[in-house]
Amino acid sequence: MFEGWPPPILDPAGPYAGSVTLLSWILFAMGAVVLLVVLAALYVALFGRRSLQEKLGGKSVIWVGGIAFPLVVLTALLVYGLSLTSHLSDDIRGDELRVRITGEMWWWRVAYLDEGGNAVIHDANELHIPAGEPVVLELESGDVIHSFWVPRLSGKLDMIPGRRNLMRIQADAPGTFGGQCAEFCGGPHALMGFTVIAHPPERFAQMMQARRMRETAPQTATIPGARLFQDAGCAACHRIAGTAANGLAGPDLTYMGARGSVGAGILQNHRGTLMGWIGNSQAIKPNNRMPPYTMLSSDQLTELAQYLEAQK
Ligand code: CUA
Repeated sequence: MFEGWPPPILDPAGPYAGSVTLLSWILFAMGAVVLLVVLAALYVALFGRRSLQEKLGGKSVIWVGGIAFPLVVLTALLVYGLSLTSHLSDDIRGDELRVRITGEMWWWRVAYLDEGGNAVIHDANELHIPAGEPVVLELESGDVIHSFWVPRLSGKLDMIPGRRNLMRIQADAPGTFGGQCAEFCGGPHALMGFTVIAHPPERFAQMMQARRMRETAPQTATIPGARLFQDAGCAACHRIAGTAANGLAGPDLTYMGARGSVGAGILQNHRGTLMGWIGNSQAIKPNNRMPPYTMLSSDQLTELAQYLEAQK
């Protein structure tokens, strides 16, 4: 569909996903070895020599193959797996970027946090990070259980109502990485996509500085569409920093014009998809929470789409 999508699941782009991929291959290899041993035993049981079959039916095979072997192997794998992936959920150190991501039905609320844990920049469905640096995600949920999963950058972790789960991600080089909600959360769960964009650190720092200023600067110039955005009721659910639009029920639209996708990773973001989404998102992502606006004329849809394109 677009860059980074669908995300390959065994092609790590950073150290955290690297550990998960290594563990996946080790588990696959161990599973394959056990399968071969079982198949060999099955072959002996069916077609083997009588003496071998009797040995296979003995008590010692049950004790060794059925109890001792699984106990030792599974314990060793558990300890190894935990030690390999424990750094994924390391506590906040304080010198890394912190972002709170909240799973919502069926999109992602994104808030960049300062050192004190206060939200300073609001966005949705897209995350910008500096390449080569670890980023701590504070995963929460606004309604039901979702699961945050950007396979090339880290593991997969549930977003549970009333809890805050920490997960680290890192991209070693700039790039675009697709993600997907990995826990069935009703309705259009399968259409709950996410994008992470890693930038060179200097470029990322500039971007965050510009956005911090954008968050607090009032939008004084009257852009066409601003009025319609209020009158059509968009502002009741959506926020655009520096304007009277401060609805929190739906995705923040302050940077809608800079976003790669429309509808949480479903459609490429351009004039036509924006107009189609505003006019009748129900036809694109059935049962999402945005009502259809079929009463708007195509001129009005164009005006709203242009207004959103200017938000960046
Ligand atoms: Cu959110 Cu599945």
